[in-house]
Amino acid sequence: MGEKTKMIIRDQASEFTKLQVSPETAKDVKNIAYGVYSPLEGFSCENDFLSILTHSRLESDVPWTIPIVLDVDEKMIRGMKPGDEILLTTSDGGEETIIATMELEDMFEYDKDQYAESVFGTKDTAHPGVKKVMGREDTLIGGPIHLLDEVKGPHAKYNLKPKETRVLFHKKGWESVVAFQTRNPPHLGHEHVQKASLTVVDGLLINPVIGKKKQGDFLDTVILKAYETLIQHYYPKDSVVLSTFETEMHYAGPKEAIHHSIARKNLGCTHFIVGRDHAGVGDYYGPFDAHAIFEAFPDLGIQPVCFRSFYMCTKCNAVVSDKVCPHGGGEHQVNFKGRVVRRMLAEGKVPEKQMRPEVAQKIIEMKELFVK
Ligand code: ADX
Repeated sequence: MGEKTKMIIRDQASEFTKLQVSPETAKDVKNIAYGVYSPLEGFSCENDFLSILTHSRLESDVPWTIPIVLDVDEKMIRGMKPGDEILLTTSDGGEETIIATMELEDMFEYDKDQYAESVFGTKDTAHPGVKKVMGREDTLIGGPIHLLDEVKGPHAKYNLKPKETRVLFHKKGWESVVAFQTRNPPHLGHEHVQKASLTVVDGLLINPVIGKKKQGDFLDTVILKAYETLIQHYYPKDSVVLSTFETEMHYAGPKEAIHHSIARKNLGCTHFIVGRDHAGVGDYYGPFDAHAIFEAFPDLGIQPVCFRSFYMCTKCNAVVSDKVCPHGGGEHQVNFKGRVVRRMLAEGKVPEKQMRPEVAQKIIEMKELFVK
């Protein structure tokens, strides 16, 4: 959309129905507009929504596992009809900003149990993703959006668009790029899977999820500071790019692994790391369910790089997996346990066998570490 059209729309804003969306939906708008969610051009209509839930594909047969939806209070759109245009606004960051126009193509009710079962494999509301779905409004609206403005978050300098990452990779001469998804500061196992992958490709994109997470997860600032420190001390110059994926975590395990890899393909990556219990929570998924699901998507367009569980073996004095180490399972095996790392850091202790000391020290220096 040209600047002139944008100005006209903003001038006539009072004539449109306005819909205020959450900060997470505002991030979805950005991801759709910039092509992180290509080929999506808007929020899911019923045909694609049902096709995703039943086949893990858009109606066009393109792989897609987590529908990008916009739920509304039905009263907001009463009297509106397909073809009408509305304005999406957000008050993330204080003032109300008009972020996009949306063409209403579809309005529909949906079955939340079906949604939860398909995406999360459970209806248990103790699952943070299911809880969110059950709390949504009962009506979804679908249709294409056009970005007018974006709200830049505190970490905007790290949020590269697909156009930018692709140009950057090209300039660096990287033909193969492996992407690493994360929602945590790096432990030694994370570093190990990244570097093992990097030995066989040209470059590494570290692409942490910045956005809403569950209580007790690390804050975005902590994740970014930890990675800045790790890269400074332990990565060869020009082998790594740190950029963010602004979105919320769904904790959908295998379905989210596919979703994550599609976004990274759109950023220009050729490979995608999937380790133990990718995007998992609690015991809802088996540790390698997120490896197996890729078999159903030979047409994904990005290559998964699957890793077994890595741990620190105090006898090998190295980060290893059961495939290469004979000492595991007993006193020599130190697992990378998020719970333990979080507790030690909160107590100001360096989890030596699990995290680089410089990284741990940087985190310990920070005042607030966790989502409340
Ligand atoms: S996630 O929710 O983003 O998957 P996390 O940031 O902990 O959580 O993991 C990032 C990636 O590292 C995921 O692909 C995950 O499977 C992988 N990973 C984490 N810990 C290990 C480990 N000990 N061994 C192998 N892979 C791991």
